[in-house]
Amino acid sequence: MSRATVLTGRVLSFNGDPSVDGAQAISFWERGTVVIEDGLISAIGEDLSLPDTVQITDYGDHLICAGFVDGHAHYPQINVIASYGAQLLEWLSTYTFPEELRFSDPAIARAASGLFLDEHLKNGFTTAAVYCTSHPVSVDAFFTEASERNLRMIAGKVLMDRHAPEGLLDSAQSGYDQSQALIDRWHGRGRNLYAITPRFAPTSSPAQLELAGALFKNSEGVYLQSHVSENVDEIAWVRDLFPDAKSYLDVYAKMGLLGSRALYGHGIHFSDEEIRMAAETGTGIVHCPTSNLFIGSGLFQYQKLRAAGVPLALGTDVGGGSSFSPFATMKAAYEISQLRGVSLPPEDLFYAASLGSAKTLSLGDRIGRVAVGYEADLTVLDLGSTPLIRNRMKSAESLRDQLFAQIILADDRAIRATYAGGDLMYNRRK
Ligand code: GUN
Ligand code: ZN
Repeated sequence: MSRATVLTGRVLSFNGDPSVDGAQAISFWERGTVVIEDGLISAIGEDLSLPDTVQITDYGDHLICAGFVDGHAHYPQINVIASYGAQLLEWLSTYTFPEELRFSDPAIARAASGLFLDEHLKNGFTTAAVYCTSHPVSVDAFFTEASERNLRMIAGKVLMDRHAPEGLLDSAQSGYDQSQALIDRWHGRGRNLYAITPRFAPTSSPAQLELAGALFKNSEGVYLQSHVSENVDEIAWVRDLFPDAKSYLDVYAKMGLLGSRALYGHGIHFSDEEIRMAAETGTGIVHCPTSNLFIGSGLFQYQKLRAAGVPLALGTDVGGGSSFSPFATMKAAYEISQLRGVSLPPEDLFYAASLGSAKTLSLGDRIGRVAVGYEADLTVLDLGSTPLIRNRMKSAESLRDQLFAQIILADDRAIRATYAGGDLMYNRRK
């Protein structure tokens, strides 16, 4: 106990999905204490008796909650964020592919990884599912920087053997071999987890997708991530490239690329049949709302996919996404649902950004909660980080309304501190 880290403050945690379990899904301690030992939460409560020798960090009326989880992001696109005026296919060829070419240089990859992870921590994120580039050194750089920050991260080398610049292309076999070598080097080393990462169907030949499916099948605990049904021109292109498939998602289904460890960004324009296929196979769909608005891709059907039982996560999709902030991401999800005639409750949005995404990333038994035995990935929210928010909070009487005001008004100034595996990794008042 003498080596424990002890935090006090208001504490919020989810035990389940509030849209299913109602108020029981939420635990709240007004004067809570969280004890961390060996990177794990060992106790939580209001009246814990602690030895006098224990040092306590008192966060007062700040809110201690689980670190946010970003279900989909591209670290090499940190320089691409805020690129003007293009929709998906033009955005990829004009901005993204030229930038990703630079990541054959390990020094560039290390610097971008560090900047990306620090920006994530500063915004309260502690886990993400991340695309590197097709260069294996870009993966080494990312996992090295993630390890230095004690972060639980999922990442992988992009597979791409067609329809991209020469310097970004692998082949079906070299992509397979490089992925296998990276799995051997990184998966399960420290807190790192590997994702086989075919970028999307247009940039992988059928042979490459088939080999990705074989690797996925034979790699215990390894993830699969890709993109699906984001943009109408992309969908038409996939129809031309894969005329035998019944739908975009069916291209991946035929290659053995669906399942509970498979994560797909977007799924905006899914048919009912694709929604049913995602739900039946337990395939995760990551809603990336700032990206969908910024690239002009469309309005995700959150309510419909959730009701059908599709596992959902929220993602920033940086750099197609326009923000590193979980608040901006939740706000954009709220606004997109509003345009579909549904008002997502604030507790559903906070759940989606933490435990909900953790579950969809098959990590719901390790991260995403402030609960005994969970990894101590925490963020501390200052609920009065600007004069406007302090003023608005005066009339926010319920926790629900307080959370909603944060979603709509807060930014990185609201992140007071972020802990990864029990270590203080970001401190606003350093
Ligand atoms: N589809 C294929 N590649 C990408 C990418 O890098 N970003 C987004 N938003 N969609 C994609
Ligand atoms: Zn993406």
